[in-house]
Amino acid sequence: MADKTLSGEVFYPTEDAIRQAHVKDWDKMREEAERDLEGFWAKEANELHWFQHWDKVLDDSKKPFFQWFVGGKTNIVYNCLDRHAETARRNKLALLWEGEKGEFRSFSYFALRREVCRFANVLKSLGVKKGDRVTIYMGRVPELPIAMLATARIGAVHSVVYGGFTVEALAERIEDSQSKLLITCDGAYQRGKIVPLKQIADEAVQRAGTIESVLVVKRTGEPINMEQGRDLWYHELMALPIANGGCQIEVMDAEDPLYMLYTSGTTGKPKAILHTHGGYMVGTYTTLKYVFDIHEEDRFWCAADPGWVTGHSYIVYGPLLNGATSFMYEGAPTYPYPNRWWQMIEKYGINILYTAPTAIRGLMRFGEAWPNRHDLSSLRLLGSVGEPINPEAWKWYHRVIGKGRCPIMDTWWQTETGMFMITPMPCVPLKPGSGTRPFPGVKMDILSEDGKPVKPNEEGFLVIKTPWPAMLRTLYKDPERYVQQYWSKYPGMYMTGDSARRDEDGYYWVIGRVDDVIKVSGYRLGTAEIESALVSHHAIAEAAAIGLPHEVKGNAIHAYVMLKAGQQKTDTLVEDLRQHVSKELGPIAKPEHIEIVDSLPKTRSGKIMRRVLKARALGQDPGNLTTLEE
Ligand code: PRX
Repeated sequence: MADKTLSGEVFYPTEDAIRQAHVKDWDKMREEAERDLEGFWAKEANELHWFQHWDKVLDDSKKPFFQWFVGGKTNIVYNCLDRHAETARRNKLALLWEGEKGEFRSFSYFALRREVCRFANVLKSLGVKKGDRVTIYMGRVPELPIAMLATARIGAVHSVVYGGFTVEALAERIEDSQSKLLITCDGAYQRGKIVPLKQIADEAVQRAGTIESVLVVKRTGEPINMEQGRDLWYHELMALPIANGGCQIEVMDAEDPLYMLYTSGTTGKPKAILHTHGGYMVGTYTTLKYVFDIHEEDRFWCAADPGWVTGHSYIVYGPLLNGATSFMYEGAPTYPYPNRWWQMIEKYGINILYTAPTAIRGLMRFGEAWPNRHDLSSLRLLGSVGEPINPEAWKWYHRVIGKGRCPIMDTWWQTETGMFMITPMPCVPLKPGSGTRPFPGVKMDILSEDGKPVKPNEEGFLVIKTPWPAMLRTLYKDPERYVQQYWSKYPGMYMTGDSARRDEDGYYWVIGRVDDVIKVSGYRLGTAEIESALVSHHAIAEAAAIGLPHEVKGNAIHAYVMLKAGQQKTDTLVEDLRQHVSKELGPIAKPEHIEIVDSLPKTRSGKIMRRVLKARALGQDPGNLTTLEE
């Protein structure tokens, strides 16, 4: 219940929010979870279906390689689809979709299971087996979740690559995962234009060299190249008799891999985070149920892209596990007009909207008149994720979109965590800009460089002290890096890579990344990726990328480049470089600003000191420079 003694600006929960909330007293829930962590998660897991019950909830004997629900047999897809399709929920809408051009498609649980089974049969006919990796590179169309679920149904492992990435990013991810099958679309609509997904895929497939078949979903109908013997149309295969009938579900070990998702890290290549069937299922099911307080009649809209973890956990798996109706929209929030989102909330009666601060700031710029033209009274809860939300944006979202009655769930989590970690629930008092406190059963702390908890309101490194079911199990093919990257700074603790402070009420305030990861419009990019795209240009010898504050995007990329000997600075070089990065990695990675410099600040061992560049750009003191080479 609301504690009326909190300090600072506090928004107390409404009577309505408390009345219908699954959780009315989160302190009690937290105490229970602390008293018996395994019992807490076992109770949630027991609400789902297991082909065979687990022997042990948590095995920490090989930490940090934790195992959850050891000995249990399940399949997350059974719990997403079959569990509902065999009950009264069979005719309930599982997935609602609107295309950018205004088309509408919907699938009941029964229909979604049928489509997934048909596609799973197609995958089997192409020789896909348990444990095989399948790369999915698509626009935001219903066939994307269908492809994910079909892959998982037969025990294969999906690797979804965000449709906004381009050639190099895709090629690298295909090659690293050694996928033989790629599922893509002929193109994707984005702001009325067509993104040539198949053309990008063709180039990436050529660079990667592991792909044997490419399955193409027709979305735009524009002419594309179809390579004989390699490329196949989705709709043609789905019309064949091999697609017909049900598809026996693969019984999976709780710890069998479900998917891998590449994310940017501190150094080198993007790494593949590995999630499993059992623990991930329990974590996403539980967190969505309690945080967004899912009820039978809810229409839940997570406006992220399915190609990022937010979409995996909270467009696809979490909502379906809960038997909710998940809404998905193909296009941009402001296309063709800035009321597009508000129009859809009114049209479909959306109850819960979950989005990113960058989208809120972007929409805020167009003023209140756009949302005010629409009836948003169906909304009950709002959510935010991806980066810290600035209090002005929080208050605008709360007042203009939520009309002052919808609590905002500011959820902090990561690709690695799989599920919400620091998050409010509808029954708790909120402070704009704070994600409040860790989810019950999750213990976190903020430490100084030497590993001591910092005092209230002091900044430090954010760490996680207890294992949680949806945690990543390892980095694909790189267990050493998993240990080194996450578990070595402070023994026994998971290092998030973020800095944060905790106020006198125990509320957490995440400040941002402390490593070489830049959050651009909530998307996670590594400085290493951007720099390697820059140096792949013929004129560039060395490059450094940093993030600087940006009003809408949160951070924008600024790059510093050194030319190769003999290369001249031309009028078009900077623009050429920006286009080059966009072509290699994708438009989201395109630097805002590029400066050609004669030297870059480096340590004596040759590491670029991005912190010095950042301080200079911000007019701040660069701090300790004793390791600087020159
Ligand atoms: O820096 C934190 C920021 O996003 C990072 C994780 O990025 P990614 O793996 O792409 O996952 C994003 C969506 C789960 C974190 O290390 N971040 C995420 N949510 C928040 C946040 N920062 C502040 N507040 C949040 N609510």
